[in-house]
Amino acid sequence: MKIGILTSGGDCPGLNAVIRGAVLKGIAIHGHEFVGFLDGWRGVVGGDIIGIPRTLVRGIAKEGGTILGTSRTNPFENGGGPDVIRDHMERLGIDAIIAIGGEGTLAAAKRLTDAGLKIVGVPKTVDNDLEATDYSFGFDTAVQIATEAIDRLRTTAESHHRCMIAEVMGRHVGWIALHAGMAAGAHAILIPEQKVSIDRITQWVKEAHTRGRAPLVVVAEGFVPEHMETPHSERGLDTFGRPRLGGIADQLAPELEARTGIETRATILGHIQRGGVPSALDRVLATRLGMAAVDSVVGGLWGTMVALNGTGIEHVGFQEALAQLKVVPQKRYDEAAVLFG
Ligand code: F6P
Repeated sequence: MKIGILTSGGDCPGLNAVIRGAVLKGIAIHGHEFVGFLDGWRGVVGGDIIGIPRTLVRGIAKEGGTILGTSRTNPFENGGGPDVIRDHMERLGIDAIIAIGGEGTLAAAKRLTDAGLKIVGVPKTVDNDLEATDYSFGFDTAVQIATEAIDRLRTTAESHHRCMIAEVMGRHVGWIALHAGMAAGAHAILIPEQKVSIDRITQWVKEAHTRGRAPLVVVAEGFVPEHMETPHSERGLDTFGRPRLGGIADQLAPELEARTGIETRATILGHIQRGGVPSALDRVLATRLGMAAVDSVVGGLWGTMVALNGTGIEHVGFQEALAQLKVVPQKRYDEAAVLFG
């Protein structure tokens, strides 16, 4: 078989390990041939491919990013759609597609599979917000990077007797904030799933300060304080009508400083969390998912994605995989909150 691979949506550490896992298993066990679509669905819609011989994947499990490039292109726009893609696949002799991507990618893959195309998926989300998989690769690396950054913020905060607010990724869910915040010993963790009042946050900061600590607040970018309605990350303009710069941490810092009297600084970690070398855990998970995606193709399991369930890899229908976001359960937040203040 000739299999096309694409990586789509925001990148994250581990994408190359998925590609390598699929290609090595596909060639060694089944004698498959592999090609890569360039820049996600853009390459699929444009029929833009490169060959992926075994030599191309040599040593790439440890490389961040994706050797195929990525984009947020919608395959149904810009002259795309199932007929165009089917024509390209026939012309190029491609029998099946492995689509590596997040919610948007898998939703598009579902629509294309419903139209008869042979596609299987590999879940990718640094935010870890897909319910159907216990963990997604890239998440462990992001948590590691965020934890190290927060540890560094702590030492400078302590020297200056300041409060620090670290903003981490997480548009809709707070998994990175929860894990990095717990690991780094944050005095408050703020996530989109939990409405917390500014009074409560002020109280946590003051309590930590009273005990002689430099208060550390970890906030997910999608957090909305009780007195706000729209997530800061979705606001186009700031309060002065200027294009929004910075994030929720920038907004909280002056507010907390005014309420606590403690000098407060904000740091937004941003795309640093998605860059660079994947952790060993992410490399292993990504490699296993890539290998399992080849099993999906061999088994003709179109319209399914591979997922981690406990320690095993299983195949889950796109429908089920997309049913809901994996939010931080109340129990997990309450558990972490015991340590706040
Ligand atoms: O969905 C993953 C994610 O990293 C979010 O946490 C973040 O809001 C978004 O992607 C950033 O997207 P972009 O790389 O397109 O700016």
